[in-house]
Amino acid sequence: MKRFTIVMAALAMMMSTAAFAEDGAAIYKTKCAMCHGATGEGKMAPALKGKANVADVILKGGLTKAPHKAPIAGVTADQAKAIATFLK
Ligand code: HEC
Repeated sequence: MKRFTIVMAALAMMMSTAAFAEDGAAIYKTKCAMCHGATGEGKMAPALKGKANVADVILKGGLTKAPHKAPIAGVTADQAKAIATFLK
């Protein structure tokens, strides 16, 4: 039982560390790359490299066309920042 508790505590610590250090590249790949290209070079959607409005567009939307009329669902403020850093 004691060993189980230690394992669970270690797991919880690993998970909270992951939550603090968001992996912008990985999130970008799953949520944005299919439209904006593997590294933000642009594809069927505009290039994002060096754009200053990345986090804003993710969290607020407000552009004229889908999918950015509305915020991108399921992306936290920390994750949006990590994606913006990845695209700098
Ligand atoms: C379904 C395809 C699609 C996905 C997925 C998508 N985008 Fe876009 N994105 C677009 C299109 C199309 C535009 C142009 C929209 C417009 O002009 O109204 C755009 C525009 C943008 C812009 C504005 C670019 C500029 O020139 O000002 C930003 C920033 C952006 N996207 C970031 C993201 C990020 C970050 C993600 C991932 C969280 C993402 N997008 C996911 C299609 C997509």
